[in-house]
Amino acid sequence: QQGPAFDVNAMTLTRWVLAQQRTAPGATGDLTQLLNSIQTAVKAIQSAVRKAGIAKLHGISGNTNVQGEEVKKLDVLSNDLFINMLKSSFTTCLLVSEENSTVIEVETERRGKYVVCFDPLDGSSNIDCLVSVGSIFAIYKKSTDGEPTEADALRPGRELVAAGYALYGSATMMVLAIGQGKGVNGFMYDPSIGEFILTDPNMRIPEKGKIYSINEGYAAEWAIGLKNYIEEKKNPTSGKAYGARYVGSMVADVHRTIKYGGIFMYPATNSAPNGKLRLLYECNPMSFIVNEAGGIATNGEIPILDIQPTSIHQRAPCYLGSKKDVEELMRFLK
Ligand code: AHG
Ligand code: MN
Ligand code: MN
Ligand code: MN
Repeated sequence: QQGPAFDVNAMTLTRWVLAQQRTAPGATGDLTQLLNSIQTAVKAIQSAVRKAGIAKLHGISGNTNVQGEEVKKLDVLSNDLFINMLKSSFTTCLLVSEENSTVIEVETERRGKYVVCFDPLDGSSNIDCLVSVGSIFAIYKKSTDGEPTEADALRPGRELVAAGYALYGSATMMVLAIGQGKGVNGFMYDPSIGEFILTDPNMRIPEKGKIYSINEGYAAEWAIGLKNYIEEKKNPTSGKAYGARYVGSMVADVHRTIKYGGIFMYPATNSAPNGKLRLLYECNPMSFIVNEAGGIATNGEIPILDIQPTSIHQRAPCYLGSKKDVEELMRFLK
């Protein structure tokens, strides 16, 4: 039997978040308001991404960020959207962005109890050739009294209240993990009504996959254990070889890993012993989500979520994905 062609009772992201709030003991609605503001930023970013070629939003801004990367126009636009929407939600006191060298303190009159770390636009090298990009965010509750300081953002991923990402791919999707042990839910954007609709309830990452994902251009700089692992994936001692997929946008590579299974790696290399990905707004939120979906995330030694951050833009090697695949990799890395 076919359902109705038009859903008159759609589970939108806003409705879903509100329902979570109503059943969470002691919830004030602040997190709901915060997530609404991120939703607005994401809708605006997806619109800008979709018409960037026409609206002259492709190309560089002319600036370099604190990581020494060339900043794109869409990086700036997305960052401004995140900052403006978060500040005006009256729910945050401190923000950390990939594009700002220092923490952003919210003005006293607009302060709330949450600390948000975000990558406003992930995969900026892919913008101008129309390959998928994304946004990533991590939400903590401020745990100290007094003025917000950088220390309020330097907390292990284990303490996250919520994490999520948006993927501007062949469709736009938001994926959200609120609270520990509450799982992961995916919401597809329906442009005809301007809402995210729950399409992927309780996302679970397959226990084992058939895909490995890594930038193999840097293979000469890998540790021997990693070299051996990748060799095993290509020329397995038993069974079929793995397929290789690497988009070069972390959000897209991790989303595929959650949907199809397998392993995503941004390893330590000889010249970059901490890899490239940033702990606070790339590794932590994505690892939190992967964990909540039943997968594993490690820096090669300890779980990503157990790392105690010491600076806001610090990097960490990142290996995440299907439980069995990451466990196999860890045996090779030892
Ligand atoms: P960003 O665009 O936010 O700076 O992030 C870029 C990251 C990440 O999305 C991706 O996984 C990685 O850079 C790719 O790096 P390589 O080009 O070194 O493979
Ligand atoms: Mn960047
Ligand atoms: Mn990024
Ligand atoms: Mn970015």
